[in-house]
Amino acid sequence: MEVIIKSNYDEICGEAAGIIQQEWQKKKNLVLGLATGITPLGIYREIIELHRKNEIDFTDVIVFSLDEYLGLEKDHPQSFAYYMKENFLKYVNIKKENIFRLEGKPADIETHCQEYEEKIKSHGGIDIQILGIGRNGHIGFNEPGSSLSSRTRVKTLAEETVNDNARFFKNEQDVPRFCLTMGIGTVMEAKMIILLASGKNKSEAVFQCVEGPVTASLPASGLQLHPQVKILVDEEASSSLTRKEYYKWVFQNKDRVKDHLK
Ligand code: PGA
Repeated sequence: MEVIIKSNYDEICGEAAGIIQQEWQKKKNLVLGLATGITPLGIYREIIELHRKNEIDFTDVIVFSLDEYLGLEKDHPQSFAYYMKENFLKYVNIKKENIFRLEGKPADIETHCQEYEEKIKSHGGIDIQILGIGRNGHIGFNEPGSSLSSRTRVKTLAEETVNDNARFFKNEQDVPRFCLTMGIGTVMEAKMIILLASGKNKSEAVFQCVEGPVTASLPASGLQLHPQVKILVDEEASSSLTRKEYYKWVFQNKDRVKDHLK
């Protein structure tokens, strides 16, 4: 795991957008896994800006959404389809046929989830998966207890997630209780994973994710088994990490490795 600690939220978003741009330079038909939530908003803002300056182009880029509330139409303001459109997709030149997402109202859940997995595979897999982290350690909507090898499926939201999401709905009873989400096994097949966390209220989840045991009780800890994970955190979100100084030293000195080559 590469832990990158920056002083504030804007800096972690800038760093994440920079990584995405670098990878796009190597592969123009980059396959991106997109996350929703408050945290990734800054990445989308940065990427839109890079696009505006002609420093990234989405003609051949393909995107897959990580999750969706079950029961919401794609035009519902709280659906993830709506979030992606309003916060990112409508500002970049991404082709409609290259946008893949989980449906809030699929005809058949199991078939839909299986087809989604197959679509990801048919595009060669996800190159970069963007993730946030829940206070309970969830990634996507893989709540505590989710199998670390789970695939795209329906999940029941944990009570704390329902409570955290209540701020986005007029009435508490409108908050969806079910969702579709890529599984942890699905996420783990991405070639690179970028997890972002900001703020003190994420520090315990970040600590458990990076330095705690690998356990289904803290789904993000499963990422310790992935070879290419970047954990981008601001000072507050990194405040419970015990090896902070080491992570900072590694990041600041990573270019020195090549001084040791012949
Ligand atoms: P947040 O959500 O970015 O809105 O805090 C993160 C998550 O639940 O994955």
